Amino acid sequence: MRALLCKQFAPLDQLSIEALPIPEPKAGHVVIAVKAASLNFPDALMCQGLYQIKPPTPFVPGAEYAGVVHSVGEGVTHFKVGDRVIAPIGQGGFAEYAEAPAVRLAPLPPAMSFDEGASFVFTYATTLHALQDVGALKPGETVLILGASGGVGTAAIQLAKLMGATVIAAASNDEKLALCKSLGADHLVDYTKENWREQVTAIVGKKGVEMVYDAVGGVYAEPALRSLGWRGRYLVIGFAAGDIPKIPLNLALLSERQILGVFWGDSVARDPKGHLRNVQQLGAWFAEGKLPIAITERVPLDGVIDALKRLSTRKAMGKIVVTMG
Ligand SMILES: NC(=O)c1ccc[n+]([C@@H]2O[C@H](COP(=O)([O-])OP(=O)(O)OC[C@H]3O[C@@H](n4cnc5c(N)ncnc54)[C@H](OP(=O)(O)O)[C@@H]3O)[C@@H](O)[C@H]2O)c1
Repeated sequence: MRALLCKQFAPLDQLSIEALPIPEPKAGHVVIAVKAASLNFPDALMCQGLYQIKPPTPFVPGAEYAGVVHSVGEGVTHFKVGDRVIAPIGQGGFAEYAEAPAVRLAPLPPAMSFDEGASFVFTYATTLHALQDVGALKPGETVLILGASGGVGTAAIQLAKLMGATVIAAASNDEKLALCKSLGADHLVDYTKENWREQVTAIVGKKGVEMVYDAVGGVYAEPALRSLGWRGRYLVIGFAAGDIPKIPLNLALLSERQILGVFWGDSVARDPKGHLRNVQQLGAWFAEGKLPIAITERVPLDGVIDALKRLSTRKAMGKIVVTMG
């Protein structure tokens, strides 16, 4: 089989597509014939050794994928050969076959394609956890979303709208903002323009926004925090810009603003039942046609290195999916 291999933590152009043996399933594991794997920002970070999880090298990247069970290991009773599954595992997906622990799999709903299944859990479950469990978003509130055209950003637009909020989408160019608009954003702000914070104030007035969803960090974090009104909540999602912002804490004291960290992976381990409830809610919204997934591009396995490079240099938007032949 063919797979993307990260032999050592290094710049993305040192990744390679290699021929590897099809894995045999260990006890409690299954081997999946991968049909689709989506790109997430952490994939690019992990290959460079910049992510909080550093797997032993060599490893096959690809955090999230969907496919068909190809073989099952000893002791696996709830999946059988031929089952369609979603595998939000953390690695292994950029390959024609992948081995995964059976307990981490979910059945792929009949109405969901492999491409959609591969693009669903990380972005939407992270974002529902952030907006609902951490941020307690209420109908009628206004959310400013930084990086709104990206993977978690597009999910944030859709989920915030479903929860009855007004959405201000911030992104770096007109094409990205057009995608945000098509997903339901109420207001659009190009945050590469110097006066972008004044634009936010012009939209919401002096009361400020009630919530910031920040997947970007860098130079955008402080103006976004200043845009929050009294007791506004600032959700720290990620640092796609690279720089982890250093925030003057007087900005929290003034207006009693709340800075709230979001760590979806850990929250799943700590509250699996809450995670299951969220996934069921997301599945129901998907089945009702309320969560059209923003898949913007499909590439073959040979195109994955280039796609990862584009993702990590701000040249991508929505979800890119690798489809296996
Ligand atoms: N906390 C959690 O539990 C959790 C879970 C999932 C993901 N995350 C984090 O969320 C962040 C976004 O993930 P994602 O998969 O949505 O990524 P993505 O699809 O690549 O989106 C990231 C967005 O960040 C913006 N950006 C600004 N500066 C950038 C730069 N220098 N390089 C690349 N992008 C830049 C881009 O939009 P513009 O060009 O419009 O600025 C882009 O759309 C990552 O940091 C990821 O680790 C956190």
